Amino acid sequence: MTKEFEQMTDSIIQSHNFAKSKYQMSSTIAGAIVAKGVEMVINSKQQRLQILKEIYWEIQKGDIEILMGPSGSGKTTLLSILAGLLTPTAGNVYLLGEEITTMSRTELARFRRHHIGFIFQDFNLFPALTAIENVEAALNVKGIRGKLARKEAQALLEQVGLADKTKQLPRDLSGGQKQRVAIARALTGHPQVIMADEPTAALDSHSGHLVMELLRGLAKEQGCTVLIVTHDPRILDLADRVAYMEDGVLKY
Ligand SMILES: Nc1ncnc2c1ncn2[C@@H]1O[C@H](COP(=O)(O)OP(=O)(O)OP(=O)(O)O)[C@@H](O)[C@H]1O
Ligand SMILES: [Mg+2]
Repeated sequence: MTKEFEQMTDSIIQSHNFAKSKYQMSSTIAGAIVAKGVEMVINSKQQRLQILKEIYWEIQKGDIEILMGPSGSGKTTLLSILAGLLTPTAGNVYLLGEEITTMSRTELARFRRHHIGFIFQDFNLFPALTAIENVEAALNVKGIRGKLARKEAQALLEQVGLADKTKQLPRDLSGGQKQRVAIARALTGHPQVIMADEPTAALDSHSGHLVMELLRGLAKEQGCTVLIVTHDPRILDLADRVAYMEDGVLKY
């Protein structure tokens, strides 16, 4: 990493009022997202690769937290572990006070469906379905069907500012609009935790800001906890906190 990049990230973290001291980890599980001693090691024939090194982290309910860091530093790996998409080699993860690292696959799938909304960089929309059908499909997975699903999908698309685009296919939407459909999908079932991996990476600055403002509004109005991985320094001003990952070590 270059000295300039190091200085830039230092000043970003400081400008967000981040003393480089450790978070105060509470002894009870109070935070919405909590990692205790999370490690990820991958063993191949040639080498042992430690991707995450003893991560302790606590994100408070209703906060919007950004995780930054250079490419390959372990951000997606950590996010996937915190969302229950990947099992860590060591350590514990608690979401909304419940330990997910000891859940069975079925329990975890159910927990994820009810409590977590995940937003991907490349939107992950079904290309053959319209905006509203994409949201309805996500509702169907959560057991909401028929007219109720249609009504709810309509309301969610209105909430993300796409009331007039409900019948359009993804290919006829802009990047920012596609990402808003993806956010509407992630919001189905009213999750308390929203996680996003580089949600603004494919967007221009203006659309990126709109998407961030939308996520911030959700965090503040609905008490959702939002964790966003990003490379994008343009959206940092909308976060409550910024953490920084380097070589598998988390700094805050
Ligand atoms: N299944 C795997 N097998 C081997 N190495 C892996 C595996 N998954 C991740 N890695 C390695 O772990 C490191 C961290 O990867 P990760 O995708 O978490 O980084 P990142 O910070 O999200 O990077 P980017 O900003 O480019 O998305 C990288 O060096 C990557 O090559
Ligand atoms: Mg990544």
